[in-house]
Order: sequence, then C-alpha cells, then structure tokens
Amino acid sequence: MKTDRIDFNDENSNTSTNPSFDAVLQVRLARRSVLRGGVGAVGAAMLGGVGLSACGGSGTGVTTTTTAVLLGFAAVSKSLADTVTVPAGYTASVIYALGDPLTAGTTAYKNDGSDTDFENRAGDHHDGMEWFGLDADGKASRSAVDRGLLAVNHEATTDEKLSSHFLHTNGGTSTLPRPASEVDKETAIHGVSVVEVRKTGSKWATVQGSAFNFRLTALSDIEIAGPARGNALMVTKYATAGTTTRGTINNCGTGKTPWGSFVTGEENWAGYFTRSATDDTARADKSVTSLKRYGRSQGAASRHGWETGGTEDKYARWDISKTGTSADGSDDYRNELNTMGYIVEMDPYNKTRSAKKRTALGRYAHESGAFSLPVAGKPLAVYMGDDSRNEYIYKFVSAANWDAADANSTDVMATGDKYLDSGKLYVAKFNSDGSGQWLELSFSNPTVAGYTGYAFADQADVSVNSRLAADAVGATKMDRPEWCSVNPANGEVYFALTNNSNRRVNPTGSSQLAPDSANPRAYTDMKGTSKQEGNPNGHIIRVKEGSAGAAATTFTWDLYALGAQSDADGSKVNLSNLTADQDFSSPDGLVFSPATGIMWIQTDDGAYTDVTNCMMLAALPGKVGDGAKKTLSYTRTDGSTLAVDTYVGKAPTDETLKRFLVGPKACEITGLCETPDGKAVFINIQHPGETTAMADIADPSKYTSQWPSSAGYGAGKRPRSATIVITKNDGGKIGT
Ligand code: FEO
Ligand code: CA
Ligand code: CA
Repeated sequence: MKTDRIDFNDENSNTSTNPSFDAVLQVRLARRSVLRGGVGAVGAAMLGGVGLSACGGSGTGVTTTTTAVLLGFAAVSKSLADTVTVPAGYTASVIYALGDPLTAGTTAYKNDGSDTDFENRAGDHHDGMEWFGLDADGKASRSAVDRGLLAVNHEATTDEKLSSHFLHTNGGTSTLPRPASEVDKETAIHGVSVVEVRKTGSKWATVQGSAFNFRLTALSDIEIAGPARGNALMVTKYATAGTTTRGTINNCGTGKTPWGSFVTGEENWAGYFTRSATDDTARADKSVTSLKRYGRSQGAASRHGWETGGTEDKYARWDISKTGTSADGSDDYRNELNTMGYIVEMDPYNKTRSAKKRTALGRYAHESGAFSLPVAGKPLAVYMGDDSRNEYIYKFVSAANWDAADANSTDVMATGDKYLDSGKLYVAKFNSDGSGQWLELSFSNPTVAGYTGYAFADQADVSVNSRLAADAVGATKMDRPEWCSVNPANGEVYFALTNNSNRRVNPTGSSQLAPDSANPRAYTDMKGTSKQEGNPNGHIIRVKEGSAGAAATTFTWDLYALGAQSDADGSKVNLSNLTADQDFSSPDGLVFSPATGIMWIQTDDGAYTDVTNCMMLAALPGKVGDGAKKTLSYTRTDGSTLAVDTYVGKAPTDETLKRFLVGPKACEITGLCETPDGKAVFINIQHPGETTAMADIADPSKYTSQWPSSAGYGAGKRPRSATIVITKNDGGKIGT
C-alpha cells in the first residue's frame, strides 16, 4: 500500500468564520408541522403507478404512466472480490475502457504503458455519463433504445508521486521535471469523450470509427460564457480578450439539459496548477484571497508537474504565478485558475461546436448539475454541490421561462445561452427547524457587495468567486456535497453528502465544525484497528422547494438516509436502521431513473472498504417529511450538552432499498445513464486497483485489481477504468 497518496477529493479551503449554519443558536423552534406534514398526492403514489417522464432523463414535460415499480431482485451481498457482482438474472458487460480506440485508424489498446494517441482513445477515470439517443438515420432521438451516444467524463488518473503510473511503461517519472511525452499522455486522458454505442441482438458495443466519436481534453479550446465572458478576471496570455480558455479538467458529475445537451462539472481542478512560493508578494492584490479560498496558497505544488513538460505554452499554462509585467495579465497565466471550475455545456451530437463554460452557475468544485422538472412558463433551476469539506449547496434559477418547444431544440448551444447565461445564483442555508433559505449571490445584494472578506468588483467577480460570496451570506457548511438528482415523481432534490472527517463534538482550529441539524453526526467508526472520526459514512439530504417551485427562496428538508454499517449503534449512527443488505458508506453518485423511478446510489468509499468494495444500491424513496424529528445529544469535553435536532426520513424497508451491485477492488462506482425504456443501464467502474504501488508496475500479481482483464476484457493485466452495461436476462427493466 502506498502511504504518500493525497486525496484530491478531500480538500478543505473553507476557513471562513460564518457559522456552520446556526450551530451557535441551535434554536429550538417549534417544528413547523405545517411545512413538513403535507403529503403531495404524487409522492404518495410512488408504489402505485407514477406519472414519469419517458424521454430519457430530461423531463420534456411528456409524461406516461408506468406500471408499479418494485425492487424485483435479490440483494447483492457485500464483497471484497475483484469482480463486478450483480443480482441473479442480470448480466454486466464491459464495453468501453481506458485507451479503447475511438477513430478508425487508432490501434487496439495494448495496455502495457506503450500506447500513445490518447486524443483518439477513451480517457481515464470514467465518471459521470449521459445517454443521447440516435435513430436509424443517425439523427438525435429521444426515444431510441438500441443506438445512441454516451458522453463520458474522464475525471482524473491513477497516480503516485506525480506520475500516472499505469500509462507509462515503467511507471513513468516521479520527479520533476516530467518528460513531455508523459505529460502529453496525461493531459490527453483528462476531459470528456463521446462514443457511439449500438445494440446488436442482446449485445452492446461501442462503434470504433463512428463520425460522432470525439474527445475534449485538458487542452481543447473552450468558450467562456455568461457574466465572466470577457471580464478582466479571464484575461490570459492565451486569450487576451478573456473569452476562451484551454481545456476542461477533473470532470466529475454530469447532467442532461431539458433541451438535449450535455453538462459536465469541473471538480478538483485547482490541484493541477502550481504557484511560486513568493507569488503573494508578486501579486499584492485581492487575487491572493481568491486563490487561497480555492485551495492554491503560494508555494502549492501541482498534482502532476505538467508545467515542467517543456517551454511550450501548453506546459507553461499550468504555472499560475504572476511572472509578467502587464497590468492586465495578458502576458502570463496569473488568471488561468479563474477559467476553471465551471459547469461546461456541450452538444454531444456535434463535435464541431465549441463547448461553453457557463459562469453564471458559479465557480467551485462542481459535481452534477440536476435540472428541476420543467414547467412551461416558469424558470428552470439547476441544483449543484461543491465537493470539498465544509462547502456549500447551490442553485441557479434561469432568467428565461421554460418554453416547451425548446425540448426539441435544433441548436442546443444557442438554447443553452438562453437558459444558462443569465439568472440568479443562490446558496443554501439549512435551519434547525427543518426549513431552509436560498440566499442570493448577487452584486446587488449589499451583504455580498459590502463583504469585508473580499471586495467584489461586479457580478462577474461574484460568479468567479462564488465561494467567497457564499461565505458572505452565511451559507451552511456541509459534509462534502457530491451529486444531486431530482425525483421525477415529485421534484424533490436529493444531495449526496459523502463524508466529512472534520465534524467534531469538540471542534478545534478553523476547519473543524460541530455537528448541526443538516450534518448531525460526529462519531467514531473503526476500520480494523484505526479510528475514523467525524462523519465517515456520509448521508443523503433532500429538499422540497416552497410554493414558487424552481424559483422558490425557501424550502423544507430532511435526511433521506444516513450511511452506516448495519451493526452500528442505531441511536447515534445507524439512524436509518440499515440492514446488512442495505448498509453503505460514502454516497457519491446519485441518479434517478425516469424510466422506473428508482434512485440509484453509488459509493466512493474508504471507510467501509475493510468489509466491502464500493457499491450501487437501488432505492424507492418517499418524500420530505415522511420520517420524524430526532434529537442527537452529545457530551462535550467540558461536560456540557450539545443537542442537535435533525429530521430523519422514514427508514427504508427491505422493499425500498437494496444493494444491487458491488464493484471490483479499489474502485468507486459512478456515472449512470439508461436507455429511455430502462432496459439497459450504463455505469462506470472508476480506478479499479488504484492502490497499486508504482514499484509493483512490472508485477501484475501485485496489482490490487486486474479488472477488467480478469473479466475477459482487453489486453494486458493493468487495471482500467471502464463503462459497463447492465441488462436483465429476461429483457426487462433494470431493478424492477
Ligand atoms: Fe469527483 Fe466528488 O467526486
Ligand atoms: Ca467500520
Ligand atoms: Ca465522485
């Protein structure tokens, strides 16, 4: 096992002094039963025939009635086997792995570290993924079920000491400078791929050489859109007009817009850039505050050392130190970090269209972008999380009202301009009485404009520095917001809060927080003989918007379920009474199926991995308010009591939550999309064997996973991130 691994998913740059919500007050307001008790008729119909969108995930407003949904499979047991396990009656097949060729002339992947030409191959660390149907004529189709495109995020790469060791013959160069040939491979395996898939008989496969296939990489030219386009904050040597940048990196969660485009979230992008140890003095302006808030203090080293690949500009741009003499940054990359950290929109059907960074949705460690159920004549909301310890939950509300005709947009990027470039950005505050507020992040908000922690210049500055604006308004610090998804049955929004090692009953320092109502647990979980403190297992919070729907500025909330091992204390830890067939840790991917109403929960865990590999569960959740208030009582070291009121959803039953899949060793399960009929579900197995040491690169017997080679897929024994397709042997809907 390696000991020098840095968890790039576990940053904490939020040392702002705003309280982690109202932990200080913990006011005991009478519970607003009027807000929490109302049962929507739609939500109650979950098991009895539900109006669901039948359009493959985008909620065009076309609804059909499905038959009753039940979880019609036998739960899969926890497992440490180096394989993908699915229920009896199901088949999981690998279809698209790291390095697979996309273009006709690209050679088969040898998987021995000698492969090159990654601009024409599948990238690494497959993450979020969406389905875009194609009809027999190769036209975009909302109903196609046997031919389509998968748009796949390639978040990162398995690495140790700078190098992505599985990509290089002898594990690569783990000291600086990095050779250009290694850097060029590593920048190319980041970004997004679009690949055509087809079903022949019952078999799915990718189509090498399809004219639709393409890649975006860490160096692709991408437009800046929204309030920050052309702003002084975006001026770089590469783009002196501040209207473009190069590349999208650390693409994590995804989304599908109601008008049929793809959105991808840029997550832990800051770590790819380096800053000199004296850069604060060189800058001597407010950009230093921004850089610190986004995790780049001066002297920060880059994750891979790409800036050392050579003198060419494509390497130089990874060093964001102020080195030039210009007043505006047009002669260096001091502003480069401002061009990363967005929701990026793409037209998956047209590789000639430039992707756009939608800056109106804010800049942070983006996960997925989940759209509200579209209502004609009303604004659209996009729900989003910022995945770092103690960060926030956001929502964007479009200025434009939804026009149902846009569901059939023939120019999706122009339609994206309409809905995603102007609107209001909000951040969430969760109150101890089960209510909440969306606080607006606007330059016209005096609390933002007058913030003493950072002098905002304009709305572009608020968009680019949305974390600082959220600090100003006193948003609730959360336990690492990961993916979110909207329940197609009732519009409620679910957010995975994966874990937080910084929750403490007796917090110390600026980064530790006491438990609060929305993040109510701080406990010790044992992993073998090691103690894991904080909220090691995570939880899932859900939000019901107020009467204004997507545009509401108030909401109610509760906790759908809390991760725990099934034998943990039911009064303090296993608050959802999870059984051995349901217990999970560190929820991350979260996707509702419009075809079945099932909510799929995927884990990226390090806490329960002494017992089981990461997994995927199927859930049929109820609704906000279906459970009960619970007060957790903690004793501080000074003997005083900390009482935390929270709201725990109705405990899942054997029929409403079951483990569906367990992955191979040292992977996470992520990304989910399906054919519109719900009969093929595509998911990603990310970084199997990531704990393999670089020193063991020559000895496959020491790899901590050999998947998917062990499943009979592809050459070589090096483990590879890959897309699998899950089908039911009787041809039915997945999970039912
Ligand atoms: Fe890329 Fe926070 O998961
Ligand atoms: Ca444990
Ligand atoms: Ca993730």
